[in-house]
Order: sequence, then structure tokens, then C-alpha cells
Amino acid sequence: MGKNRLYLVTGGAGFIGSHIVETLVNRGEKVRVLDNLMTGKHENIANFEDRIEFILGDIRDFKALGKAVDGVDTIFHEAAIPSVPRSVEEPQLNHDSNVNGTFNLLLAARDAGVRRVVYAASSSAYGEIGTGEKKEDQLPSPLSPYAVAKLVGEYYCQVFTRVYGLETVSLRYFNVFGPRQDPSSPYSGVISKFVTTLLNGDRPMIFGDGEQSRDFTYVANVVDANIRAAESADAVGEVINLGVNQRTTLNQLLSELQKIIGTNITPQYEPPRAGDIRHSLADISRAEKLLGFKPLIGLEEGLKATVDWYRRNV
Ligand code: UD1
Repeated sequence: MGKNRLYLVTGGAGFIGSHIVETLVNRGEKVRVLDNLMTGKHENIANFEDRIEFILGDIRDFKALGKAVDGVDTIFHEAAIPSVPRSVEEPQLNHDSNVNGTFNLLLAARDAGVRRVVYAASSSAYGEIGTGEKKEDQLPSPLSPYAVAKLVGEYYCQVFTRVYGLETVSLRYFNVFGPRQDPSSPYSGVISKFVTTLLNGDRPMIFGDGEQSRDFTYVANVVDANIRAAESADAVGEVINLGVNQRTTLNQLLSELQKIIGTNITPQYEPPRAGDIRHSLADISRAEKLLGFKPLIGLEEGLKATVDWYRRNV
């Protein structure tokens, strides 16, 4: 940072990408965004778009990528079709965007002499191994097309580091939430769904018995880890969990949100979702060791900030 470098954020108009862009811009960095606006939204970057370069383009299009990587030092690769159930419904789209798109990006980065790629990997790669904390040295066991695709992306990152010397870091995100997460699609993240449903006075839907658990991670933690991953020499070629090491069931999440919002609405229980994982909790000791990462914002504080945002914006 602060070295007059050019940063590319793929998916920079999306939920997580736009937070990375905003932080870079606030630090006075030069930022380029590549986004096809398929799930990303112009309004996510509207407050700082005069300070970035925006390219409307798709990571499935190698030509658009060539333009996007030109002169770039560091890439934050957030562009993806992010939903587990969507990948079950549309496996071809998942594969094209998440496998081929990531491969294209790495190839273009290699050819353009990019220094480093920080890749948005997914904790879904672990699948169902045990109920304890997930550690990076466990054998992955993907349960959905999405999890496979995100895992292939990691393998490609590691191989591009080994074979071509392109520096890569894969951050396995655990259930990220926060302002700007789009609640409007059937594939939207559960916190965006619960908050907006409760604010409307409607009944939230819980798939399964609600005793499945997640390590819900506020987006500011993800931005911080990404920026650390762009710099850390020790992180090159590594796969690193990115969570806050806090187990929360969906039933607990819902009651916490009802407390914050001031509602007492009975949820609707529906059959479990195909490809769903039961428990997901991050061991974050590798992130601490390699990135100096410590969670900045815990669940409760993150939920309050998120509820505030939806109250004001949706
Ligand atoms: C999420 C991410 C995925 C990421 C992964 C990493 C989203 C949309 N997906 O997948 O990109 O790689 O974490 O851990 O953020 N549920 C309900 N009611 C709802 C919606 C969901 O009960 O209205 C349940 C789901 O069945 C699931 C849990 O909530 O058990 C979480 O679902 P979701 O937010 O979609 O995230 P993941 O599938 O865990």
C-alpha cells in the first residue's frame, strides 16, 4: 500500500468487492474495477466512482481481462457467482464463472506480469468433515458444484505460484455479511434475508431444523485480511481460513436479530437445502500467524451495523 500501485478488484461492484474498493480508495490507492454487473450493482460504488476506473466486463471474456490487468500490481479476485443453491440449479454458469473465469484471470495476470493475486476462496470446500473447527490441512470434501469450483480456483492459484511464480493467496471466506449484501434474490445470504424479512414484519424461512451453524464474518474483517494478504511475504502460495472463530446456529442468529430489531416473529421451517453443510467454523490460527490477522468486529457489533444499514437503505 502507498507505493503508487494499481489495484484491480474483480467483482468490485459486488458486496465484498465494493468494500475492498472503498477501503483502497479511502487510503488514496489507485483502483480499477472489473464487473459485469450481473450480481454487482452500480449503486454499491456510487459514492466513490469518481475516484476509480470502472470497466464493464466479464471474467469469462479473455479480452476484457487483458484490458483490466494491464499495468496492475495487485488483484483482489472477488468476481464470482457466489451461491451454493444457485450452483446446484445452474452448474454450467457456476463452472464458467468460477472455474473458467478464475483460470482466465490467472492466465491474464501471469501474462501481464501482475505481482500478486488475492483470491476469494470458500469455506464450502471443507464439506462435512467433523463438527469441529475447520483447519486448512484437512482434506477438502466439497458437497456442491460451487464448492468444487472454488476449490479448483485455489488449486490453480497454488499451481500458478509454483509453476509460473505468480504470487497468489487464497482466503477461504466463512459466511460473510454486512452492508450492501443484496437480499433480493432467492440465493441471497441468510443474514440479508433474515434482517430484511424481519424489518418487513414477515416470517423468516429456516431451511432444516435451524441447528446448522456458521462462522458469520462481518465484512470489515474480510477487507482487513485481504489488505494484509496483499502484503504478507509468508502468505504466498497459501490457503488461509478467514472467519472470526465464533459458532452460531441459525436459531441463535435469528433470536439475536429479533433482539436487535425488536421483533418476536415465529419462523417458518422448510426442508433442508441441497448441498448445504451442517456445521462450519474456522480455525483462524493460520491467518493470525501468516497475516497478523485478528477479528476486528465480532458478530453482535456486525449485526447491529448491518441492521442499521438495511434500515436506512432498503
Ligand atoms: C455462504 C456463501 C458462500 C460462501 C460460503 C462460505 C452466500 C450467499 N453464500 O454459503 O458464498 O462461500 O458461505 O461458508 O453468502 N438459510 C435459511 N434461510 C434462508 C437462507 C439460508 O435457513 O432464507 C440457511 C441455509 O440453508 C444455510 C444457512 O442458512 O444452512 C446459510 O446459508 P447461506 O447464507 O446461503 O450461506 P452458505 O450456503 O453457508
